[in-house]
Amino acid sequence: MAGGPDWVPLEVDTGRANVARVYDYWLGGNHNFLPDQDLGRAIAAVEPNTRAMARANREFLGRAVRFLAGAGIRQFLDIGSGIPTQGNVHEVAQHAAPGAHVVYADIDPVAVAHSKAILAGNDSTVVIEADLRDPEKILTDQSVRQLIDFGQPAGLLLVSVLHFIADADDPWRIVATLRDALAPGSYLVLCHGTDEGKPTVAQAAAKVYNRSVTTDLHIRSRAEILRFFEGFDLADPGLVPIPQWRPDKAAGMPADPGKFWGGLVGVGQKP
Ligand SMILES: C[S@@+](CC[C@H](N)C(=O)[O-])C[C@H]1O[C@@H](n2cnc3c(N)ncnc32)[C@H](O)[C@@H]1O
Repeated sequence: MAGGPDWVPLEVDTGRANVARVYDYWLGGNHNFLPDQDLGRAIAAVEPNTRAMARANREFLGRAVRFLAGAGIRQFLDIGSGIPTQGNVHEVAQHAAPGAHVVYADIDPVAVAHSKAILAGNDSTVVIEADLRDPEKILTDQSVRQLIDFGQPAGLLLVSVLHFIADADDPWRIVATLRDALAPGSYLVLCHGTDEGKPTVAQAAAKVYNRSVTTDLHIRSRAEILRFFEGFDLADPGLVPIPQWRPDKAAGMPADPGKFWGGLVGVGQKP
């Protein structure tokens, strides 16, 4: 946008809300504009726990990456990685396992541009602009191949991105394509929006969301989300609400776990 901040790529329409920037707004980041903030506030008005859920999602991502690093994973493919914020995957992974390789992929040019800026000089990490709906393209991308050895176990992170893929684009086929490219011992880390427990609020929030963004939100049932783990063995404690997945000993479970109903998370390993 002419006259916009210099981190905004020219082709980006900042006059329209965008999923990556709305999420950045909920997390308290600075890479969002008025339409993103308006939509973020409108959804938070429908479900006041939205910001807490976004933060819980981000904390789950950190716990899952530490879990994978502890299990010996040294390469991570994070698709739908978002605008960098606190606790980025490469920071968590490379803290737990120095030298770990991380590939970020996102469809959003702002997420990609900002990731490039913070990754400059980090040879173990790269970001590509990519669409999850074309997994073959991601798998054959040169810079992905340079950092990810598909003959070795890897961590595939699909955290809060699959609910932006419509049934018509067959997200289950997409995950199966990625799974088939992974070596045995690899992991899938997933968070997905659900209407389990609060269908009326979930439908109302999705309606507000889908009125304003170009990428529609598709919340799914537990059974539909479980299907993404076909060909993976689900690690304990299974597919659970966000804070219930292996809570950090220090932080523990929130006092009011019921408010985190909007997402189900799980980690599976390819046998
Ligand atoms: C809610 S954010 C999640 C960010 C990060 N994974 C996390 O959990 O903190 C969703 C991200 O998915 C990206 N996204 C949406 N549709 C996508 C697609 N088809 N391909 C790649 N990324 C996509 C958005 O641009 C956004 O950055």
